[in-house]
Amino acid sequence: MTAVRVLDSEALAEGARAVVEARGRSLAVVRLRGSVFAIDNICPHRGGELGLGDLQGHHLYCPQHAWCFDVRTGEGFFPQGVNVARFDVAERDGGIWVELP
Ligand code: FES
Repeated sequence: MTAVRVLDSEALAEGARAVVEARGRSLAVVRLRGSVFAIDNICPHRGGELGLGDLQGHHLYCPQHAWCFDVRTGEGFFPQGVNVARFDVAERDGGIWVELP
């Protein structure tokens, strides 16, 4: 695993989400209640971009057909049993770093 700086911390306000590309992956990055989370951006249904969807609590809704994932774990809330990858995140030196394979 390698830590990759994907954003400046100040670029992600509380409650905001962003789409970033790193190491050949598209990631949805979210700041929620002071913590930052990163999951795969690409919806396993038909490829919608989760990072462009609505955030309600810990649930990020795909903008295409409203499948929904918990940003803390990548677990599907609707439908359950369909998950996306989640990645460890750290903030340091004014940046947001994601651990990627
Ligand atoms: S593409 Fe995400 S719910 Fe259909």
